[in-house]
Amino acid sequence: MQVNSELQQLNGNYLFTEIVRRTQAYQAQHPEAKVLRLGVGDVTRPLPLTIIDAMHRAVEEMAHAKTFRGYGPEAGYGWLKQCIIEHDYRPRGVELTPEEVFISDGAGSDLGNLSELFDRANSVAILDPAYPAYVDTSRMAGRKIQYLPCVAENGFVPELPKEQADIIYLCYPNNPTGAVLTREQLRLWVEYARSHHSIIIFDAAYESFIEEKDIPHTIYEIEGAKEVAIEVCSYSKSAGFTAVRCGWTVVPKQTGLQAMWMRRQCTKFNGTSYIAQRAAEATYTPAGKAGLQANLTHYKNTAKLLLKGLSTMGYEVYGGKNAPYIWCRVPKGYDSWSFFDHLLERCQVVCTPGVGFGPAGEGFVRFSAFSNREDVEEALKRMEHIK
Ligand code: MLT
Repeated sequence: MQVNSELQQLNGNYLFTEIVRRTQAYQAQHPEAKVLRLGVGDVTRPLPLTIIDAMHRAVEEMAHAKTFRGYGPEAGYGWLKQCIIEHDYRPRGVELTPEEVFISDGAGSDLGNLSELFDRANSVAILDPAYPAYVDTSRMAGRKIQYLPCVAENGFVPELPKEQADIIYLCYPNNPTGAVLTREQLRLWVEYARSHHSIIIFDAAYESFIEEKDIPHTIYEIEGAKEVAIEVCSYSKSAGFTAVRCGWTVVPKQTGLQAMWMRRQCTKFNGTSYIAQRAAEATYTPAGKAGLQANLTHYKNTAKLLLKGLSTMGYEVYGGKNAPYIWCRVPKGYDSWSFFDHLLERCQVVCTPGVGFGPAGEGFVRFSAFSNREDVEEALKRMEHIK
């Protein structure tokens, strides 16, 4: 037996695991400290009651022979696919068939698993900084990676790849910088992919945070995108499902990959939990939509509060407008991890070190707005004291 040496060579801990490790070590040494968590993008608000009710009803069905469910369809129930097609795509002028929509247990798994569709020899282009799973899974697969630097000077929107990129990971609204792409900017990527026979894996997990008009909510708003793009979506951030686990991935027939992805899912994935899918269905009811909107408004407001508070203190900050993340340059004399440690030790505030998202993230930290207003106010107050 030989282990996967690429996987073996990945650095120690996954980024968010390392943050938890350092935070727990600090908390163990300072049990009295109230640590304020603005690190991992994990939701903090309870689910709307109507979604809880839907889950209760689904659990109850499992208790009776007549309504009990076993395995569901591997790619998800038709009723949930229909909600997605009608509510998430049709209003934006995008028509999909149920066969093109795959219900998942969240964006994270699919973003990693999609890599199995492609030959190892394919080259990969990844934004730098980026959600670490794109790099980690590409490395596990032994692929050559081309980093596309996203820096303040280019507005965190990189130039098109200089070398051939067969697989391109894009995430907009962006994690971690909070940057967005206009329709015209996204059109250039679709054109690139069409002329270079590339595939774009478009991570749309933060779509619900878009507030400005000219920002596309789905890559399929761009003409020709169905031939070259797979879109990965999640209820985690839009509906607070980080623990429930449900999302969806669109693999259009025109990509030529839809049947292969179905084959892969049937072999390796037995489908998303029925209870989670009923919960997702409830997000499309009027009460579900209102509950989600209230939670989103809360997070959007904490993002604005963080952005304003940090910039008033003189920090150079980005994002936070169409995204739940604030990207903040660290003060002189620090790097990403030393500023993370400094904030943890002096303010008991947890952020995410920018370098954990890639080399170009060095010199930045990311603050997450998935928090309570009181905690954000308290974090800003504590940071004000150490300025
Ligand atoms: C984050 O960047 O904090 C992540 O998106 C958390 C996650 O994996 O959902």
